[in-house]
Amino acid sequence: MKPNDVLYKNPSIPIDIRVNDLLSRMTLKEKIMQINQYTLGTNNIENNKGVEVKQIPAEIGSLIYFPTDPELRNRMQRHAMNDSRLGIPILFGYDCIHGFRTIFPIPLAQACSWNVPLFEKGCRVAAQECRMSGVDWTFSPMIDVSRDPRWGRVAESFGEDPYANATFGSAAVRGYQGRNMSDSLSIAACLKHYVGYGASEAGRDYVYTEISRQSLWDTYLPPFEKCVQAGAATLMSSFNNISGIPSSANHYTLTEVLRKKWGFRGLMVSDWGAVEQLVHQNMARDLKEAGQLALNAGVDMDMMSHAYDTYLETLVDEGKISTSTLDEAVRRTLRVKFQLGLFEHPYTPVSKAEDRFLRPQSVAAARQMAAESMVLLKNEHQVLPLKQGLKILVTGPVADATHDLLGCWWGHGEDGDIEKLNESIQKEFGSQAEVRYIKGCDFDGTDERQFKQVEKLSRWADIVITCVGEKGSWSGENNSHADIALPTIQRHLIQCVKASAKQLVLVLANGRPMIITDEVAMADAVIEMWQPGLYGGSAVAGILSGRINPSGRLAMTFPYSQGQIPIYYGRRHSARPHQGFYKDQTSEPLYPFGYGLSYTTFAYGEPKTASHEVKAGDKFDVIIPITNTGQRDGLETVFWYVSDPYGKITRPAQELKHFEKKLIKKGETVDFVFHVNVNRDFGYVDSEGKRFVEPGDIMIFVGDKKLKFTIK
Ligand code: BGC
Repeated sequence: MKPNDVLYKNPSIPIDIRVNDLLSRMTLKEKIMQINQYTLGTNNIENNKGVEVKQIPAEIGSLIYFPTDPELRNRMQRHAMNDSRLGIPILFGYDCIHGFRTIFPIPLAQACSWNVPLFEKGCRVAAQECRMSGVDWTFSPMIDVSRDPRWGRVAESFGEDPYANATFGSAAVRGYQGRNMSDSLSIAACLKHYVGYGASEAGRDYVYTEISRQSLWDTYLPPFEKCVQAGAATLMSSFNNISGIPSSANHYTLTEVLRKKWGFRGLMVSDWGAVEQLVHQNMARDLKEAGQLALNAGVDMDMMSHAYDTYLETLVDEGKISTSTLDEAVRRTLRVKFQLGLFEHPYTPVSKAEDRFLRPQSVAAARQMAAESMVLLKNEHQVLPLKQGLKILVTGPVADATHDLLGCWWGHGEDGDIEKLNESIQKEFGSQAEVRYIKGCDFDGTDERQFKQVEKLSRWADIVITCVGEKGSWSGENNSHADIALPTIQRHLIQCVKASAKQLVLVLANGRPMIITDEVAMADAVIEMWQPGLYGGSAVAGILSGRINPSGRLAMTFPYSQGQIPIYYGRRHSARPHQGFYKDQTSEPLYPFGYGLSYTTFAYGEPKTASHEVKAGDKFDVIIPITNTGQRDGLETVFWYVSDPYGKITRPAQELKHFEKKLIKKGETVDFVFHVNVNRDFGYVDSEGKRFVEPGDIMIFVGDKKLKFTIK
């Protein structure tokens, strides 16, 4: 028989027919192996050091792939293709979270750029580097609405807002998957962590999450719904316990919502060990029961729990898992492999590292993203951009940092490619300034021996750039912090500089909003650079010199104090608008969502719209002219919020519904448009996800303007 006579091997036949043909040929054991994921290669992620799978069966469904080139993949794939009865290719996955080798800023920082096309371009770069290196599937984007900066994983999210997570998440799906996942530069995306993981109690990782059905539907599910509509091929079930039923055993979210309501046909993989953890969560008696609960709830593939490979055969024999449930999970796994074209192209062409990595356009995109994601938080008396001819002191542990600038999940980023701040600043100013550098202190510890010298040099300098923040390993998974202030030694360094410097600029590199209230008060200017990936050095230097006009805006609120947490803009109204505030300090955050300064100024004109009376089903435009009234060109992000004065279900005081970033040249006026869809933007969901539009008044806020509409 020629290969094309076997239906599943014939590429001209529709995928669903190929899937069913292949499934009909599989034994129970072969089916079970398809829905397991092991690892291959050296795992450099501390939390996931599992037992290296030495003897990987040729029938394995998927592997997490750690090398940077395709050689090992191809060897393993050959084993699967040649040594298994049916020759089913393996699906190779990897956590490419903000770049594979060309490392972009952490996702939270990228969200602060509000530049969705640029973000999508970055995901394309990641996809190209992955696919050419032997990776078919990334466990990204993370679209967990994150409102507690004590939770280390806020670094991986797009911040506190559901719409922002939905928008960046869909862009990631488009960027990774391209027009067609089977092309040689695209990979499958994985939406994670489904669902509500970001609601972790008190910011602790892996813990219980109390999420009402209403919040599930209005806050945590919307990003997933939008990204499923964008065509995401896979999802990952999360670690958290949703109000009593852990996510990875939650039939309501995994099957009733995702499959039945949204019609998702792709693959659901568990998070690492999430099936086994159902035992720790008191949901399952043992690993066997955990496997039974997870698969029956809708987790198709088991990542590293070894529940499915160990117990499924018995569970099927005992009638605890039906053949149709097992078959459906296998079907979903196979479908992704067909969509990726793995049956036709199981091997990755071998290429030179320089042809795959750090291509000029990739580097350019990462540089632009580093520049656009930084947020200017303070600039008293226009101390920035710096004047020429100054004596500049650069100090602080971040100033000569390399690896720490990559943040968590640094992929295969290499320290040698990272721009150091002190060197970049020196380079930026060249002979236009006298730049000196002293480290001052480490990220933590108690060694203050250099402080005397710091004091002396601070007196010498006209301005001191103090670069402080978090080590890369302080945020990300399993990195909850009860105290998110700067470590004592770094606060002492700032105090030491302040005591003798004429002017103080703070540059912060961190993976979460921190408590910086006292330090900001001491500084003349503050730049939040986040963990910027490879090219933060030249971006900060460009902002200091004025070559770059900062345009980032916060995607997550900066609390004034630890006691305010959680604090986020989308809260519901209080029963007493005039009372209930903290008695001992302000109830306002230090910096709200959407905040960020520019070197130019913008004036918002009067918004225009055809009519203020609308009805369900209507679509119309609101246009606002914005003028650059300052002395230089600048990028402005316009945020459009909706606010419903009252209704049968109360809503957040304001909800972001649209944003757009555009360049406005000095003196020019540019129109920004919100294409309103009444059902989508003025409507709301109830606790079962039913969308409704309620007659009555509704407001749109944009900048300092507001418009009132009446829904008839
Ligand atoms: C993380 C996931 C990640 C997975 C695979 C887990 O510990 O929670 O986000 O994709 O490991 O590395």
